[in-house]
Amino acid sequence: MIEEMDLSVLVTPTLQWYDQHKRQLPWRKDKNPYHIWVSEIMLQQTRVEAVIPYYERFMQALPTIEALAECEEDPLLKLWEGLGYYNRARNLQKAARKIMEEYDGVFPGDYETIRSLPGIGEYTAGAVASIAFGQAVPAVDGNVLRVLSRVLESHEDILKQSVKKHFEELLRETMPKERTSAFTQGMIEIGAIVCVPNGKPKCEECPLESLCLAERHGLLDSIPYKAPKKPRKIEEKTVLLICSSKKAAIRKRPDQGLLASLYEFPNTDHYLTADEVREYLEKEQGVTVESVEPLGNAKHIFSHVEWHMNGYLVQTDQIPGQYLAVERQELQNRYAIPNAFQAYYQKLMEVLA
Ligand code: ADE
Ligand code: SF4
Repeated sequence: MIEEMDLSVLVTPTLQWYDQHKRQLPWRKDKNPYHIWVSEIMLQQTRVEAVIPYYERFMQALPTIEALAECEEDPLLKLWEGLGYYNRARNLQKAARKIMEEYDGVFPGDYETIRSLPGIGEYTAGAVASIAFGQAVPAVDGNVLRVLSRVLESHEDILKQSVKKHFEELLRETMPKERTSAFTQGMIEIGAIVCVPNGKPKCEECPLESLCLAERHGLLDSIPYKAPKKPRKIEEKTVLLICSSKKAAIRKRPDQGLLASLYEFPNTDHYLTADEVREYLEKEQGVTVESVEPLGNAKHIFSHVEWHMNGYLVQTDQIPGQYLAVERQELQNRYAIPNAFQAYYQKLMEVLA
């Protein structure tokens, strides 16, 4: 990598470009640290377009740190339903409670204190400190890693912690003391809409083009470099939509592990045939099965696991006692069902309508 480049040359073009090209986004309307914080947490694993409606709804329901601190877990998870990585929501609340207890409900304004809050890593602390509080601290996310590795022609693995640290150090030295918010967001914004994550970068629109070594040397296919990941573990499941007179069976997942404390349809951790489903429900759960309709397969990809699912719609004389029996309305308004069940959720909504 070209170590000698002085990154301060990025500042002026980035700021000028940001002023002209930044998107109007709901969390850019003010510098309220609560707004910046929640948006940054949502944006960590989710695209801007997907985040916007969630962000709006979240702020309507929980407009203050205090409201977030006091929210019950189920409605909080319901607000997060579909966004995934639900620990983000739980950590938001833990941090909100800590702010209420230790900082009188006022969001702390310095990097180190922000970094010490639950769920806040270096990136988020840097983003909130520089965007909401004007501190000259770097915020290096995937967007910034992509832009910087290309500008600097770095072939290093951008998923390595040491590489991120290195870029943070470079930026820390060159962050402008003024306009920290525009600089942080400008770097992120270039990565989001010019030096795009999937597909060809739009170098002809990029304010950094004249400085960018990967572009100059035709290395855009090999930079950023990411080491291959090990394959995900595959888990086979049978998902059961157990229905009885316009009610369906759901259960709460354990409070630890994948999708903790969310609600799910009954499922087994292997594939069952329709006959096996019937037998399982009649013998082990003591209900009378009226019909079993195959719903086909569905797949859901998590970061480290894939669920390969096989679904059945089962009509029974009653909902087995171990489950919650819920109506369509409750399913829609009250219980958070993770996206992994999306394919079957749609079907259930039709059946319960
Ligand atoms: N991705 C992460 N942070 C962002 C922000 N503040 N604006 C747009 N996209 C982002
Ligand atoms: Fe990315 Fe192209 Fe800009 Fe380089 S010039 S930072 S490759 S968009």
